[in-house]
Amino acid sequence: MQAHYLVNDSSQIFTPALLFYKDLIRRNIAALVRWVGNPTRLRPHAKTHKTREIIRMELDAGITKHKCATLAEAEMLAQVGAPDVLLAYNMVGPNCTRLAKLIGKYPRTRFSVLADHPAGARMLSDAIEKAGVRAYVVLDLDVGQHRTGVAPGPEAAALYELIAKLPGLVPDGLSTYDGHNHQDSPSERTAAVQALLGPVLELRAELEKKGLPVPRIVAGGTPTFPVYAKLKIPGLECSPGTCVLNDNGYGSKFADLAEFIPAALLLTRVISRPTPKRVTLDLGYKAVASDPPAGKRCILLNVPDYEPILQNEEHFVIETPAADRFAPGDIVFAMPTHICPTCAMHQQAYVVEDGKVTGTWQIASRDRVLTI
Ligand SMILES: Cc1ncc(COP(=O)(O)O)c(C=O)c1O
Repeated sequence: MQAHYLVNDSSQIFTPALLFYKDLIRRNIAALVRWVGNPTRLRPHAKTHKTREIIRMELDAGITKHKCATLAEAEMLAQVGAPDVLLAYNMVGPNCTRLAKLIGKYPRTRFSVLADHPAGARMLSDAIEKAGVRAYVVLDLDVGQHRTGVAPGPEAAALYELIAKLPGLVPDGLSTYDGHNHQDSPSERTAAVQALLGPVLELRAELEKKGLPVPRIVAGGTPTFPVYAKLKIPGLECSPGTCVLNDNGYGSKFADLAEFIPAALLLTRVISRPTPKRVTLDLGYKAVASDPPAGKRCILLNVPDYEPILQNEEHFVIETPAADRFAPGDIVFAMPTHICPTCAMHQQAYVVEDGKVTGTWQIASRDRVLTI
C-alpha cells in the first residue's frame, strides 16, 4: 500500500468512512489545468464529489466554469460563489420552477441548463418567463450514447432555433457528452471523438450562418478528456468529473490517465472473524457504490490474496490465507471502483493531510434539496 494513503491515528474515525486526500485532490486539479493549458477551457463536473471545499479548490486554481447534474449541486455551486454553472440535465415538471427560483436567488451566478426536446424547452420557458428571469440553454446532442439528446442534424437545428425564439431562453451552445467512449486504446478513443465531432461542427456552422450564436461546445467526461484537451476548437469546454477524485475503475482501465491519482479511499474495520479463513468488514454496499458487480466494487489495499465472498448492506466478507493476521478492530483501506455514487453514500469525508486527519467536509449536495 502506498505511503501517501496511510493515516497516523484512526482512533477517531467512524467506519465505514470516506477519506479525502487533500494534496492528491490538489494534484489532480493541477493536472487538469496543465492538460488544457488554461483553466478557462475547463468545466469540471461536480457530481463526483458534491463538496463545497473541492469547488473552492477549483476556483483557487482559476476554474470558473462548472457542470453539475442536480439542482442541489447547482445551488451548492452558487453558494460558494461559482460564477458560471451548467446544470447538465433536462428540467421537467416542478424542477423548471425550482430552476427559475434558483436563478432569481443567486443573481451573481450565470446558470445554464440542457434541453433536448421542444416540450421540455416550452415548459422551461413558461417557468422562466413567469419568474421574470432568464435562462441560458445548451442544446444536448446525442453523439452516440443514446441516453438523452437529439442527434446533430435538422431536428437539432430546429430545436436551437425554437430555443432562440422562446421567451426567457437564450441559446448558449452545444453539449456533446460521450459517456459510451470507454475504449481502452487511446487511439481508438481519439478516432471515436473525431468521428462524432464532424456532424457537431457542421451543425454549429449552420446555426452560425443563420445568425444564431453557438458560444460553447461542452464536451466529454474523463475517458475522452485527453482527446478534447488537445483540440483547438473555439469555445470547446472539457467537462471531466471523476478524475478530480479518480477511482480504481478508471485508474485500472485507462493507462493514459495515470496522472490522475485516486484521491479518495474508504476506511473500514474488521468486525468479525467467523471462520479460520474469513474476515468480515464493515463495508457493505451502503458504503461503497454497488453499480459494479458484487466482488468488484472496491479493491482492498492492505489485505493480501483475498477473495470477495459476500456483501450485504453493512457487511463485506472476504477469505484470505492471511486471515490470522486480522482481528476485530483492525483497519483496512479500500479503493472504490466507482467513486461518484460512493461519495453520495456518505454524509461527510474525513480530510487527510500528511497522514493526519485535519477535518471533515460535508458531502453537501448528496441531499436532493438544499434550500430550493
Ligand atoms: C453530462 C456529463 N458530463 C460529464 C460527466 C463526467 O464524466 P466522468 O465521470 O467520466 O468524468 C458525466 C458523467 O456521468 C456526465 O453525465
